[in-house]
Amino acid sequence: MSKRKLRNLSNDGAAPVPQGYGMHCIGCRSTVSQMTPELRCPECGDLLEVIYPWLAQRGDAQHCDLEPSTLKTVWRERRLSSKVIDRSGVWRFRELLPILARPEDPVSLIEGNTPLYALHACASRLGLKRVLAKHQGMNSTGSFKDTGMTVAISVAREQGFRWVGCASTGNTSASMAAYAARAGMRSLVLVPEGRIASGKLAQTLEYGAVTCMMATDFDGCVRVMSEIIRRAPVYLLNSVNPFRVEGQKTAAIELAEQLDWAAPDHVIVPGGNLGNASALGKGFEELVALALIKHLPKISIIQAAGANPLVRCVRETAGEKLIPVRAETRATAIRIGNPASWKKAVEVLRATGGACEDVTDEEIAQAKAELAAEGIGCEPASAATLAGLKKLVRSGFVQPDDSVVLVLTGHSLKDPEYTLEAQKGQPANLPIAAEPSADSVLRILERFSY
Ligand code: F0G
Repeated sequence: MSKRKLRNLSNDGAAPVPQGYGMHCIGCRSTVSQMTPELRCPECGDLLEVIYPWLAQRGDAQHCDLEPSTLKTVWRERRLSSKVIDRSGVWRFRELLPILARPEDPVSLIEGNTPLYALHACASRLGLKRVLAKHQGMNSTGSFKDTGMTVAISVAREQGFRWVGCASTGNTSASMAAYAARAGMRSLVLVPEGRIASGKLAQTLEYGAVTCMMATDFDGCVRVMSEIIRRAPVYLLNSVNPFRVEGQKTAAIELAEQLDWAAPDHVIVPGGNLGNASALGKGFEELVALALIKHLPKISIIQAAGANPLVRCVRETAGEKLIPVRAETRATAIRIGNPASWKKAVEVLRATGGACEDVTDEEIAQAKAELAAEGIGCEPASAATLAGLKKLVRSGFVQPDDSVVLVLTGHSLKDPEYTLEAQKGQPANLPIAAEPSADSVLRILERFSY
């Protein structure tokens, strides 16, 4: 690894905050001009958040006329452009991302632009008027991570880093490896041995990441990565990175646009390290501040029962204290016992009035099968949202007339072993041995009414 002096590293190893926005600490609330290599507050070590002074005083915005009608028109027209920054479903909203010194040239794989599907059968089974799925698995590398990665990798490149790194349950690493390759940078991945879905590992290897399989869990990988970034010039791309959160917030903008600038009553997300819930909350809050939508949706977070530290924190301490758990679930993407962004997530639950629930692996498997029956494939972690919705309907938190959006975070092909294994419990779905002849296949077809 090159030890060349990094352009923007000052003597004490802290990266300066670029211009165009501010940064504050979510713990001590101080305004921060330098962050530690772990991208945390130098005073108290808590997480940082990007703030835009101009958001509070819309009229004085330097970057554009932030009138809602102007923004809506500009963002819609960009869809017709052939420029990468206009076609990207993240950079299309760049007025709300004034982060880069050279905004015309981000590292992009034309991410975002993900579909919103109506789930008619799920809605009618639950007695709900409207259930939609925002499929973030339809991003460039098959997960929602891409929307944040395009922003954070672009910042890393501008700051002169050659190496980026993350601890991951698989999707962050796949996304980071792809964007690093795109930027001509090197990437370092730490993943828990035997606990990462094969699709994600295959991606990470193909994009050329230095991939370390470690005999520990995700939380252990995070601990090792924290030490590495203090000792080597590697830029951290876990979701504590406030620029990743900025990119991921654009899913909220895109969703609001798809709903013709009306927020749904409920948005339901799976919770792991809790960066995504925080990002969506921030996105919706900025949309309300800009009068692009009238009210916040209730953002609810669903965890796996075996990896539910936030649920316990909310139930047992009213959101005041998070006690890490030893995480175990077959939804490996959210097998996380010590989520970094829990305080931000608690804030989102409070600000939006959302709920926090956990669901068993069996409930997740059942929900995944129900989504598949409507032609929507996704990762197990993503299906936790539907399993959670069922609970929230049973408890009366979601009412029949409410509109609900499930955020499906990852593509079905990420974890083919899980899907194949699940079919063993569905005899009708198993492959049938047949002779290589039409007669043989037609005899089989006779068992079905066709
Ligand atoms: N769904 C999927 C498919 C994920 O990959 C993750 C997180 C989550 C949900 C949870 O999102 O962490 O923002 O609360 N995956 C991370 C990774 C941790 O390393 O790929 P979160």
